[in-house]
Amino acid sequence: MTQTLAILMSGRGSNMAAIADACANAVLDARVTLVISNRPNTAGLSAARQRALQTAVVDHTLFDDRQSFDRALHKTLSAVQPDWIVLAGFMRILTAEFVDLWHGRIINIHPSLLPKYPGLNTHARALAAGDSKAGASVHIVTSELDAGPVIAQVHVPIHPGDTTESLAQRVLDQEHALYIKALQLCIKGLDKPAC
Ligand code: GAR
Repeated sequence: MTQTLAILMSGRGSNMAAIADACANAVLDARVTLVISNRPNTAGLSAARQRALQTAVVDHTLFDDRQSFDRALHKTLSAVQPDWIVLAGFMRILTAEFVDLWHGRIINIHPSLLPKYPGLNTHARALAAGDSKAGASVHIVTSELDAGPVIAQVHVPIHPGDTTESLAQRVLDQEHALYIKALQLCIKGLDKPAC
């Protein structure tokens, strides 16, 4: 049976678009059944609609706290019961309660070589540390931020004169293929024991 993905994002949505296109082109044996944004009117939502994907907005600013936002997110996801919840530039910290409800089925991409630089401003931190390489990691989400088991990583060189923007772009250029490769592993079940 073709496995289903719900993709959660907050903005531009380039990872979402790459994953949706990989599904549409049968590069990935999966189907995107829902794209959720926690912000209205994003480029990512337009990109999802252009692809005729079902979209939903769960606007975090309308909720009093993380728990009530996550409950609304859970309700929206429960309506489609995805096999995998794919965080693609989703800039919200999920509660432990939510993570438990979807245990082992939430995947995230993070723009650093985890365990280095969990959290925000990863590229600025890599440049400030004088690192010679950066990268991205796809991992299973656990209740600890950016700390779950890594499924796949890509390394990217840092060049002299790099800015956060040039480095972010070089990493992003590799993120799409990395995410598709990691999802292929999950879908084939190779990584389920780690989940
Ligand atoms: C990507 O670089 C992704 O790794 C990062 O946000 C960007 C989203 O780009 N995610 C995080 O920082 C999560 N902590 P996109 O909207 O074009 O996919």
